[in-house]
Amino acid sequence: MKKIISVVGARPNFMKVAPLHRAFQQYPDSIEHKICHTGQHYDEKMSKIFFDEFELPEPHFYLGVGSGSHAVQTANVMIEFEKVLFAEKPDLIIVVGDVNSTVACSLVASKLHIPVAHVEAGLRSFDRTMPEEINRLLTDAISDYLFVTEKSGMENLAKEGIDKSKIFFVGNVMIDTLIQLLPKADASNILSTLQVDKGDYILVTLHRPSNVDNDDFLRKLTDVFKTISGEKKIIFPVHPRTRGNMERIGLNGQLSENIILSDPIGYIDFLHLTKHAGLIITDSGGIQEESTYLGVQCITVRDNTERPVTVDIGTNQLIGTDLDKVTKTALEILNGKTKSGRIPELWDGKAGERIAAILVEQLNK
Ligand code: UD1
Repeated sequence: MKKIISVVGARPNFMKVAPLHRAFQQYPDSIEHKICHTGQHYDEKMSKIFFDEFELPEPHFYLGVGSGSHAVQTANVMIEFEKVLFAEKPDLIIVVGDVNSTVACSLVASKLHIPVAHVEAGLRSFDRTMPEEINRLLTDAISDYLFVTEKSGMENLAKEGIDKSKIFFVGNVMIDTLIQLLPKADASNILSTLQVDKGDYILVTLHRPSNVDNDDFLRKLTDVFKTISGEKKIIFPVHPRTRGNMERIGLNGQLSENIILSDPIGYIDFLHLTKHAGLIITDSGGIQEESTYLGVQCITVRDNTERPVTVDIGTNQLIGTDLDKVTKTALEILNGKTKSGRIPELWDGKAGERIAAILVEQLNK
């Protein structure tokens, strides 16, 4: 029996570990799979709701590290995770995505000579001012198994000199979860709760420090939303980081009659909102992929993306941070100038099964 511990920390991690957990249940005689939650995200609406929706068990280990500066948060995860590894002596750990918990746990494990698998390896924005880019580079450099979602990831890892035998193109575990929960999402009544009709609203999410920690830019962005909301209602579930910054600069309360601000929304309702949006405006990584899978128009308010396939073949448009361009493109899309797209290779709902099969084979070599 081999013991594997998967790490989750922040909101975008939960939907990536759920399909892995399910896939490992197919190997009851050879794999014991445990989940460690670092507590990087801890609010009910940023964490607990997802365990329920994804039918994940209570985490076997909860490190409770909470918020803090990068160094404090990363260091606290490392200190607490090392204790878990000393006690549990797993045969492998799995980390997903690019958050601080990802790099912290992979670093601890690799120093203890415990193999590390990185799911969603190889993505690069080539922008080292993004904390996630640093996390991605470091995690990939010390991982033993690198599971890649799109072809660009294979090329990036090859250029960085990572041995080919460690790299596996398996598809996208986040899309596994999307496909699995689409029937439930289809039954959501969030649209009637928010009093909007299918196709007749814009969905906005924002949380990148480069967008929301800059007061002037955040203020100008909300002005853009006020302008666009003259065309269509906007639904804007506000991330805690963004909420804090908006309150600090006096943007609390309503922005305009046509902008619905809400708390963070659970996965199933959010998926329903994504599927039926007339347009999405975001700076999230995951939503670029989800909108591509669903063929929904997406404007990404960033100067770069680590997920180029969503732009090359998907419905995503990387518009950058020139806000006049954001407004212009949004109005064009709303007036029918849409971008067509296709679903990337291997985004078929089976990535988790592929990863589990590879790891079972590798661990039993
Ligand atoms: C983190 C990830 C980012 C990911 C995002 C998804 C890193 C470097 N960043 O950013 O890649 O896209 O999660 O949400 O790991 N807060 C709460 N409740 C919570 C969690 C956070 O109120 O449950 C507040 C705290 O004030 C905290 C702030 O949000 O200081 C930011 O949280 P943090 O985990 O530092 O980073 P995110 O911006 O969420």
